[in-house]
Amino acid sequence: MVHFLTTQDWTAEQLSKVLDLATALKRNPMQSHLYGKSIALMFLNPSLRTRTSFELGMQQLGGIAIVLQPGKDAWGVEFRPGVVMDGDAEEHIAEVAGVLSRYCDMIALRAFPLFKDWTIDREDPVIRSLARHASVPVINMETIVHPCQELALMQTLHEHLGSVRKKKFVLTWTWHPRPLNTAVANSALLIATRFGMDVTLLCPQQEYRLDEQFEGAAAENCRLSGGTFGVSHDIESAYSGADVVYAKSWGALPYYGRPQEEWELRKNYRHFMVDEQKMSLTNNALFSHCLPLRRNIKATDGVMDADYCVAIDEAENRLHVQKAVMLTLMGASGAVEGQL
Ligand code: CP
Repeated sequence: MVHFLTTQDWTAEQLSKVLDLATALKRNPMQSHLYGKSIALMFLNPSLRTRTSFELGMQQLGGIAIVLQPGKDAWGVEFRPGVVMDGDAEEHIAEVAGVLSRYCDMIALRAFPLFKDWTIDREDPVIRSLARHASVPVINMETIVHPCQELALMQTLHEHLGSVRKKKFVLTWTWHPRPLNTAVANSALLIATRFGMDVTLLCPQQEYRLDEQFEGAAAENCRLSGGTFGVSHDIESAYSGADVVYAKSWGALPYYGRPQEEWELRKNYRHFMVDEQKMSLTNNALFSHCLPLRRNIKATDGVMDADYCVAIDEAENRLHVQKAVMLTLMGASGAVEGQL
């Protein structure tokens, strides 16, 4: 069974084909190739973009999307194997996946990490458990990676830059009052290195480095793609000459699950917010962010309202890339490829 859990499971050629398909779908959005097909969208966490773009996208392909929020409008779900279910969850993912696989042709899941124990969360156990029990393709709508966001980012960069190979991509940690998920940062590293960019991870200090599985994958991606990957704690040198500045805030992994202790580090780095002065050091760089974004916390109004900010383009492209992923998983990409 082919799933879309992480872009690392798909070849560069497969990802490029999905992006080409997304471009065709952007030109011709209304299709009927998934008529009679359905997708269950399970959200364990809130969403604006992901929910809207998946629901609309499936409708624009002739299919139907059903939104489920376990613990709110659906029974709470237990994902761990072999546990005595004497907590809040009423049913196990084994039955949920089995039942939804009988009703639907695909299942998508958003399940943020639990922020208690990174040694557990770093294995992405919730979506892996769903994929193990499902007999239809599973799509990751954000766990410890956000592969749909990756594709939207890359489609946006292609639209604005053409070839991204050897372009300087700066992934900057930015200020936020709380320690957030590392998913989008992990994903930005993966996709930029996959497409041969020269990537700098800018973060305040070593504690904000990303998990070794993602930094290691980024280095390996570079070996295959011809890109480069480095880490900097120096704002001025990292921004200098950048072609793309991509911002995200995340928690320091050594303090995972201990937000009060992490605050003692975090409180010193408000100045990592993206502003016009920092952007002036770049090579007329594009700026983007996955959204949602707190203005004048993560980036200034001036940056968000600048012509170089492509965050809305990236959000729009979520729609097109997700339609391309669903068509690909359903083996229905061929008809649209004829329009390329
Ligand atoms: N970027 C993103 O996934 O947005 P939502 O959390 O609103 O879905």
